[in-house]
Amino acid sequence: MTIEHNTDATDDALGVRKLGHRAFVGGDGDLWQKIGRLQFEFMRARGLEPHHVLLDFACGSLRAGMHFIPYLNADNYLGFDKSIDLVILGVLNELGHEQFLARRPQFVLNGRFDLSEFTKQPDFAIAQSIFTHLTPQDIRRSLAGMAAIAAPHTQLFATFFRRDFEHTNPTESHSRLCFYYTAQEMHSFGVESGWKFEDIGAWDHPRGQMMGRYFRA
Ligand SMILES: C[S@@+](CC[C@H](N)C(=O)[O-])C[C@H]1O[C@@H](n2cnc3c(N)ncnc32)[C@H](O)[C@@H]1O
Repeated sequence: MTIEHNTDATDDALGVRKLGHRAFVGGDGDLWQKIGRLQFEFMRARGLEPHHVLLDFACGSLRAGMHFIPYLNADNYLGFDKSIDLVILGVLNELGHEQFLARRPQFVLNGRFDLSEFTKQPDFAIAQSIFTHLTPQDIRRSLAGMAAIAAPHTQLFATFFRRDFEHTNPTESHSRLCFYYTAQEMHSFGVESGWKFEDIGAWDHPRGQMMGRYFRA
């Protein structure tokens, strides 16, 4: 695991302590299970198999990782986040240390969108409810970070809140405030780093997040 503490880690740590590792990522109770399983089933339907390498971009407290890690072959789960607190609580409370030891998930933790410490290239990536919290500049940085470790066949599935009404986004990325974008904006964010974009639309997300697919070839 490679770790680097970033500037707003303290605010997030306080939030995690106050709300708990499930509620902090926005889904206590039934939502926790539902959004975790939804991601797993969506990726399975898109062709994810145990021999594939999966990047869980902004993996948080392993709401989806707790399903992906036992399913994938050892060493094939790559978890990226800025919050060490969420990842540790996810491993301890959701995944369990036996699965951690058996499956050897890799974690890279920083707030700079720098994924270069991963030792494998992902076949698939999922970014669930992270672009919904980022400014355009940070989404571009995320996509550039993922492009730097992607293979030509890598497919990235990313959720977003569709903006089809007047809405002013916050000026700074924020783990708990929401950002809305059009599909055209989602497309434009990936152009510089070589991603094409397909607007998949609704995928049964309980909070109405849409799904998009970034691909290179
Ligand atoms: C709403 S949660 C979603 C977590 C996870 N994908 C899920 O479905 O449960 C957003 C996550 O993004 C992470 N995050 C926010 N800004 C980040 C950044 N700059 N770099 C890496 N992770 C970030 C937060 O720590 C949090 O885990």
